[in-house]
Amino acid sequence: MPGDRVIIFDTTLRDGEQSPGFTMGIDEKLMMAKQLERLGVDVIEAGFPISSKGDFEAVRKIATEIQECEIAALARTKKDDIEHAYRAIKDAAHHRIHIFASTSDIHLVHQLKKTREEVLKMAVEAVKLAKSYTQNVEFSPMDATRSDRNYLCKVIESVIEAGTTTVNIPDTVGYSMPWEFASLIRHIRQNVGGVEKAVLSVHCHNDLGLATSNSLIAVLEGARQVECTINGIGERAGNASLEEVVMSIKARQDLLHFQTSIRSEQIYPTSRLLTKITGVNVQPNKAIVGSNAFSHESGIHQDGILKHRLTYEIVTPESVGISKSSLVLGKHSGRHAFQERLQDIGFTLSEEQVEQAFQRFKILADKKSEIFDEDMEAIVTETVIRAADKYKLTGLTVVCGTAATPTATVSLQVNETSIKGSEFGDGPVDAAFKAIKNLTGTKSRFLSYSVNSITGGTDAQGEVTVRLEENGNIVIGQGAHEDIIMASAMAYLNALNKLAYLEKNPVNRSARRHASWQ
Ligand code: KIV
Ligand code: ZN
Repeated sequence: MPGDRVIIFDTTLRDGEQSPGFTMGIDEKLMMAKQLERLGVDVIEAGFPISSKGDFEAVRKIATEIQECEIAALARTKKDDIEHAYRAIKDAAHHRIHIFASTSDIHLVHQLKKTREEVLKMAVEAVKLAKSYTQNVEFSPMDATRSDRNYLCKVIESVIEAGTTTVNIPDTVGYSMPWEFASLIRHIRQNVGGVEKAVLSVHCHNDLGLATSNSLIAVLEGARQVECTINGIGERAGNASLEEVVMSIKARQDLLHFQTSIRSEQIYPTSRLLTKITGVNVQPNKAIVGSNAFSHESGIHQDGILKHRLTYEIVTPESVGISKSSLVLGKHSGRHAFQERLQDIGFTLSEEQVEQAFQRFKILADKKSEIFDEDMEAIVTETVIRAADKYKLTGLTVVCGTAATPTATVSLQVNETSIKGSEFGDGPVDAAFKAIKNLTGTKSRFLSYSVNSITGGTDAQGEVTVRLEENGNIVIGQGAHEDIIMASAMAYLNALNKLAYLEKNPVNRSARRHASWQ
C-alpha cells in the first residue's frame, strides 16, 4: 500500500470559481490563495489560463506570490492550452500542469465526436508536450466513472508511460456509488501497468451528495490525493468539500489512518473568507462550517453537552477555528488589536489595507458599541476586497416616509469621473436602484434581492445580497452597512462591478465547458 499521507489538492479557484455566481477577480483570487497557503493545502489549482485573460493573470500572480504550495493550471490536450498553462505557472516555486480529456463513450460520441484511438493519441501527445515544460504533470480522464474500464486503464497506462506523475480519476457528474468507486480504484491499481509510478488522485462531484464518501473510500483503496474545494463549491452541486474530507480523516483516525498537511484551525476563517469574496453563504446545516454545525438546540442535546461535550460533539468548534466568543472590539480598541483580530479571522492585509479598514472600523465603532467578527469581515469586504472597483458609491441621500414620494440621489465615481443623479421609486431601495441603473447604463436583470442582519440588535449592520444576470453572466453582489439602503446600493454596485470585470475579461465558455477541441 502507498504511504499514509493524503495530498490535499484544492480546486476552489478553478472548479469552484467556474460555477455561476462564484466569479472572483484577480486580487480576490490572490487573497484566497494566500489563505489557502495558510490553511496548508499541498496544491492550489489556480485556474484555467486559456479560458480568459483574467484567469491567466490570476494564475500568474498566484504563481509568483505563493511559496509554500504547488501551483497547478488546467489545460485541455491542445497545444495552445498547455503553453498558456505553462506561461502562467512558470514562475511558481513548484508548478504542475493538469491536462484533461474525456474517456467515456457518452462524451466521445456526443460531445467530442472523436474515436477512442484519437483521444488516446491526443492525451499521450499532450502529456509529452507538458513534460517538455515541467516534470510535474497530472492527467485526468474526464468522466472516468462512466468510461469503459478496459479503455480507461489503457489511457491511464499510456499517459503514465508518457510521463504523467499524478493520475486523477474524476467522477465528473457525481454518478458513482461509494462501493462502485472503490471497486474502480481497486481495478485501476490491479490492472494498470506502471500505476505505482504515479500518485493516484480522485476528483468527486456531489450531484448525489456522495462526493466526500467517494473521496474517502478511494483513499482506503489507495488514492493518495484528494481534489476538493472550500465549502464544497464547484460545477453544479459542487465538489468534495475540503473541510469534510479533512475533518473526517481527523475525527476517524481509528478507521482512517492517514494524515494531511491541513492546519484545521484555519478551516473556518478560510470558509468565511470565501463567502465574503463570492457573496455566497453556506447553508446553515452545512457540515463543519455551517452556522448550525455546532449549535445544540434540543433540550436533551443541550443537557448532554453541559454534562460532557463528547455526548453530542464529534469535532470541536475550536479545532476548525470557530472561537467561542465572537465579541471582539469596541471604539477604544487600537490599530494593533484590530490588526491581530483580522489575522485571527483569516485576513492577512498590507499596512495600507489595514489603515483603510481601520478608518472604517473607527466610524462604525462610534455608532455601534460592540464590533463582532462578522462586522470585521464586512469592513474588510467593503474597504479592501472592493477597493479596485470600477463603480464606487460616494454619496446617497434618500427621502421617504408616508408624506413623501420616495426619492434617491446617488453620487458615483466611475473610474476617475464623478457623476450624480436622482430618481423616484416605489420605495427608497427601488429609487436608489433606479438612480444607479441610469447612472451606470446597465442592462442587467435582477434575479433576486435579500436582506439579512449580520449580528443581533437594532444597531446591527444589514447585509444585502443581489443576484444579477447580463449576457449569460450571473453574479452575486453583497453590501453591508448599518443603513440598509446604503447596503442595498453597495450590493447592487458590487454585482455591477463583477459584471464589468467579466465584460473586460470574457470567459471562453466553450473551453470551460470542455466542448471545443479544434
Ligand atoms: O470534473 C471533472 O472531470 C474536472 C476535470 C477537469 C478534472 O473538473
Ligand atoms: Zn470537476
